[in-house]
Amino acid sequence: MEKIAILCSGGDVSGMNPALKRFVEYAYVQGLQPYFVFDGYEGLIDNRIHEAHYHDVSGIVSRGGTKIRSARSARFKEASFRAIAAENLKKRGISKLIVLGGDGSFRGMERFHHESGIAFCGIPSTIDNDINGTDYCLGVDTALNIIKNAVDALRDTASSFRRAFVIETMGRNCGYLALVSAITSGAEMCLVPEIPIDYTEYKGCFESQIRNGRDYFIAIVSEALQNTKEVSEWFETELGFESRITLLGHVQRGGNPTVYDRLMAYKFITYAMNGLLEGRTNSVICYNKSHFNFKTIDEVALNPYRLDEELVNLGREQFAPSRCQM
Ligand code: F6P
Repeated sequence: MEKIAILCSGGDVSGMNPALKRFVEYAYVQGLQPYFVFDGYEGLIDNRIHEAHYHDVSGIVSRGGTKIRSARSARFKEASFRAIAAENLKKRGISKLIVLGGDGSFRGMERFHHESGIAFCGIPSTIDNDINGTDYCLGVDTALNIIKNAVDALRDTASSFRRAFVIETMGRNCGYLALVSAITSGAEMCLVPEIPIDYTEYKGCFESQIRNGRDYFIAIVSEALQNTKEVSEWFETELGFESRITLLGHVQRGGNPTVYDRLMAYKFITYAMNGLLEGRTNSVICYNKSHFNFKTIDEVALNPYRLDEELVNLGREQFAPSRCQM
């Protein structure tokens, strides 16, 4: 029986567990023996590789995180540890691997493939949605919905107290989570690295809004900018508006996966496994304009991710201080 393994690398996302479930079920349908590698590349090196069975994945579809855990591995960057990892797979007869992770993880896998001959397929998975070559990464929809619920709740208390809330989202260097959240929750201010804005230019407009009865402000700020304190103080000193900061933090990474992330997990795994069975050896399955397509690691990892131009334009139009509605 041919053997196939799966691992999760980097930040976990809601959608990994549905992916594991589909992986096990579809492997058996294809006559393959599925294996779990626990703790990402760390587990590959330390030999935490176990056969996976139906009962391992029952009841996990609704759970965030990943049952087989994830890790960021410094050791996997070293050839000597990659050789140990390859040996651990080979002694079990595992020749195919699916990796749920980001472009850094895929780059490591490519080296591993060239050294060991083990075939792999990457599935873009990060709440940051910052992988070049794909419009969507597994987990981003759940993260956006968690942010949406948090912002809606914060608006309730903000308006009850006449306060400004400065809300920081994750996303590392990418403003995707902040921008989409700000647009879809009707925020008054959105600060992301992709749309440089001098927020002090909002002063006149916001003062006029306050005179006209506005009783709260929602500002959504990407963690990349690290300026929540500064913005919050600006509301207090320049507008005389009491302000609070909310760092959403890791709550954005967990939670019950949305229907969309669950379905996409099933589709990604199906494409990845089919690709490996058709003889693909080192690719990433991407999603563009409603279609799945395989890309090389270079296509994905050589260029930095850029936010979709249409989204950036929408953000510019919505949040430019010059267009602020008095
Ligand atoms: O890449 C996912 C992510 O959640 C980023 O948005 C964030 O900057 C980072 O991981 C946090 O990393 P850690 O979980 O190691 O604190």
